Amino acid sequence: MTERTLAIIKPDAVGRHVAGAIMQRIEDEGFQIRAMRRIHLARREAEGFYAVHRERPFFHSLTEFMSSGPAIVLVLEAPDAIRKWRTLMGATDPAKADAGTLRKQFAESIERNATHGSDAADTAAYEIGYFFAGVELI
Ligand code: CMP
Repeated sequence: MTERTLAIIKPDAVGRHVAGAIMQRIEDEGFQIRAMRRIHLARREAEGFYAVHRERPFFHSLTEFMSSGPAIVLVLEAPDAIRKWRTLMGATDPAKADAGTLRKQFAESIERNATHGSDAADTAAYEIGYFFAGVELI
């Protein structure tokens, strides 16, 4: 089933100028980039995006990092896009990520881990709507 997911190329990856390499992998793996924008999140916008993690010990540090510099948000489309993008990213902790995954190649740490992807259909719908209006996705 064709599906959409929200991807973020995080500030660590944009800052190290590997956003282009990550986008090349996205295209090479067969995703359609349906929408894309460069953003610099305000702290409150990062807190809203990661609201499900607000009780976690890393929430403060994560939202500080995510608002520390520009990021790129994308809507990716493919058959089984949510699972496929998470597989391409690899494990959250790059130390545990498989060879050939984006986080193995580009992530610095469990927090500065280069990319984000929605984890389920309902979160994908919320996260896409957080950044993109319906009219941008026609
Ligand atoms: P992401 O896929 O964007 O979803 C939540 C983010 O929280 C995750 O990637 C990491 O950047 C961060 N994160 C998850 N677990 C930890 C942790 N144990 N310590 C610090 N940051 C974490």
